[in-house]
Amino acid sequence: MQASGKKDSANTMQYRKLGTFDLDVSAIAFGAWQLGDARFWGETDTVEAERTVHAALDAGITLFDTAEMYGDGQSERVLGKALGTRRGDILLASKVWPENCEPRALRESCEASLLRLDTDYLDLYQIHWPIRNVSVEDACEQMMRLQDEGKIRAIGVSNFGPQDLSEWRSHADCISNQVAYNLAFRAVEFDIAPTCQEKHVGILAYMPLMQGLLAGVWDCVEDIPVMRRRTRQFASSREETRHMESGCEAELFDMLTDLRRIADGLDATMADVAIAWLIAQPGVTAAIVGARRSDQLLRNLNGAALVLSEDALTELDLVSSPVRKHLGANADLWNNGEDSRIR
Ligand SMILES: NC(=O)c1ccc[n+]([C@@H]2O[C@H](COP(=O)([O-])OP(=O)(O)OC[C@H]3O[C@@H](n4cnc5c(N)ncnc54)[C@H](OP(=O)(O)O)[C@@H]3O)[C@@H](O)[C@H]2O)c1
Repeated sequence: MQASGKKDSANTMQYRKLGTFDLDVSAIAFGAWQLGDARFWGETDTVEAERTVHAALDAGITLFDTAEMYGDGQSERVLGKALGTRRGDILLASKVWPENCEPRALRESCEASLLRLDTDYLDLYQIHWPIRNVSVEDACEQMMRLQDEGKIRAIGVSNFGPQDLSEWRSHADCISNQVAYNLAFRAVEFDIAPTCQEKHVGILAYMPLMQGLLAGVWDCVEDIPVMRRRTRQFASSREETRHMESGCEAELFDMLTDLRRIADGLDATMADVAIAWLIAQPGVTAAIVGARRSDQLLRNLNGAALVLSEDALTELDLVSSPVRKHLGANADLWNNGEDSRIR
C-alpha cells in the first residue's frame, strides 16, 4: 500500500478541547522533564532551555507539562524562570508524586510547586501515578479544596487504568489522563483509551518519540542509552530492566525500518510521522513532546502540520501491529503484567 500525507502549511498548530476544560490546548504540548533532570538527560544548559521554551511559546504551544519529581523540582524551577512574564499566556501543568498524596503532604507539594514555578496557580494538577498507600478519597478531597482556593484550576491523573480512573472519578473530577503512548507502545488502545473516551477524559500522550527511538536516532539496541532501553520492548537480559520478559527487539527494529520507509515516501522525518500518527489517534488530545534544544523542538513541530491520509494511517497501524500484539494490554512500560502498576 502506498502511504501519502500532506503538510497543512496554512495552520501549523491544531488546538483541541482537553476533557471538559473550557479552554483549548495545542495538540503538541511541551514536556519539561528534559529541562531539569541531569541524572537522566544530562546537565541543563539554562540559556538553551530558555530558548527552547520561547521557541515553543512563539510556535503556539499552549500546554507545558512538568512534575515535582523531575530533577527534584529543578524542571519546575527552570520552566518557571523561562516562562517569566509569559506564564499567563499558557496552561501550566504539574504533577504530584503518589507518596505525597496524604492531604497535608499534598498541599505542601502543591505549594512548593507553585513557588518553584513562580506562579499563583496551576492550570492542571495531576496525580503522577496511581495512589496505593494513602486514602484516594482523602487525596480527592484535598485536590478539590486546592481547586476551591484557586491554587489549581483543573484536576488530572497520569498512568491510571480503568479501575483507578473509576475509583478516582467516584470522588472527584478528572479532565485528563497522561499515559505512555506511541507507535512502539500502543497498550492504552486496549482498555484505557476507550474508557477515557467514554468518560470524556482527555488523553495526554507522553513519550511520543519513545525517547528518541522513533526519531531514528539509533540503528541498534547497543547504541541506545541504558536508561532508555529498560522498557518492555527490550529483552530482560538488557541492563537495568526489571520486567523479566523476552521483549520484541526484532519486531521493534522491523517497525523502525518501515517507519523510515513511510516517512521517506512522505518527504517527512520519522519523528514527524510518529507525532502526526499519535495526535490522529482517537481520544488523544495532545502529544507531550520532550526536547532539550530549540532546533529539536522546531523540527518536531512539523509533526503537528502533517496530515496523514487514511492509507498512511492504515499502513502505520499495520507495521506497528507486531509490537502492539507482543506487548499487549499492560500499559506499564517497565513492569510485567503481574507487577503492573496500572490497573
Ligand atoms: N506522566 C509520566 O509518567 C511521564 C513519563 C515520562 C514523560 N512524561 C512527560 O512527557 C514528556 C515527553 O516524554 P519523554 O521525554 O519521555 O519522551 P519523548 O518526547 O518521546 O522523547 C524526548 C527525547 O527524544 C529526543 N528527540 C526529540 N526530538 C527529536 C528529534 N527531532 N530528533 C532526534 N531526537 C529527538 C531527545 O533526546 P536527546 O535529549 O537525547 O536529544 C528528547 O529529549 C516529558 O518531558 C514529560 O513532561 C510523563
